[in-house]
Amino acid sequence: MSSQPDPNEKTLIVVKPGAVARGFVGEILGRFEKRGMKILQIKSQTMTKAKAEEFYSVHKERPFFGELVASFSGGMTVGAIVQGMDAVATVRRMVGATKSWEASPGTIRGDLAIGLTDNAIHASDSKESFERESKAYFS
Ligand code: CMP
Repeated sequence: MSSQPDPNEKTLIVVKPGAVARGFVGEILGRFEKRGMKILQIKSQTMTKAKAEEFYSVHKERPFFGELVASFSGGMTVGAIVQGMDAVATVRRMVGATKSWEASPGTIRGDLAIGLTDNAIHASDSKESFERESKAYFS
């Protein structure tokens, strides 16, 4: 495995229903563009419950799964494939901590999120997650 960062790495971000409803799509996508990243593909959709369950299937045994699926399928989402230098890790740093009250100011969640389930945005946590989640989202 190379230690060199990949300048063309891809990752998936999904703006969650709460952040779409609060009007933050442009602000969030703009942050990636300003950072020099490219939006390769974009789609907006209201997820069915089944599709939300498939998307978050790694969490199916967790106690918060039902609430997560209900929230994620409860309104319009906007998903995008974002490409740039070391994209998976770079985007996760820009997104900030999962618990939005712990997210640093200047991160997307630190500036725009209001909770844990409603933490504004999902971003893939590995290349493998990107492959699986982007197939689930764009299928
Ligand atoms: P996300 O990055 O989309 O990945 C899984 C989501 O589960 C997470 O953001 C949160 O919105 C949600 N979630 C709800 N409760 C928890 C919890 N206790 N720990 C982690 N994630 C949680």
